Amino acid sequence: MWARSGARRTRYNQNCARCHGLEAVSGGLAPDLRYLEANLDGDEWYIERYRHGYTVNGVTKMPGYDELLGQKAAWAIRTYVETRPDDGALDDFLDQLATIRDGLKNIAEKLVAGTTAYADISAKVDTYKTVLREVANQVSTASGAPAADSAASRAYTALDASAEGVAKATEFLTVGLSVAQ
Ligand code: HEC
Repeated sequence: MWARSGARRTRYNQNCARCHGLEAVSGGLAPDLRYLEANLDGDEWYIERYRHGYTVNGVTKMPGYDELLGQKAAWAIRTYVETRPDDGALDDFLDQLATIRDGLKNIAEKLVAGTTAYADISAKVDTYKTVLREVANQVSTASGAPAADSAASRAYTALDASAEGVAKATEFLTVGLSVAQ
């Protein structure tokens, strides 16, 4: 799932970010798309602008993307922007996420050392997954969409009791924490 969300993110960042801001956080050149409501009115307005762009007095302020990128890309990008976390949405959870990240580093060391019983590692990973899930469910979006695609949700999806799963989850948390601070 995170691989797919990565592709949506790339699409957005390659085509829309230079005006609407990296990661959909607008720098003021064009509207902040995270705030476009996640409902039918929002969808309608989104697709209208996406198709036709925006022109004033013959000057193109935004190109139309129907022919350039097509419908499938339109909805992939829409999903990306509407699931961006709201500003500060992770703030209340940073300590919890940092604790889990440090715990995962510890688990990675144990996996390498090979001296800890797998059942113990697996139980610890399950505990972290439960907390990540709870946090992920509480991270709000600005669009009103119920689920944010956050560092917590990505780490939750990636995490399992393998060296690879632990490494990926650690990376998502590290990136999320560095962006938030
Ligand atoms: C060259 C700059 C530029 C690029 C690139 C661009 N936009 Fe825009 N976009 C604008 C401007 C300027 C507006 C404001 C137009 C207006 O006043 O309604 C806008 C408005 C919008 C709106 C309406 C937002 C609102 O709150 O009313 C949507 C939706 C939108 N753009 C989507 C996209 C998507 C999706 C992409 C990438 C595929 C994209 N734009 C690429 C400049 C750009």
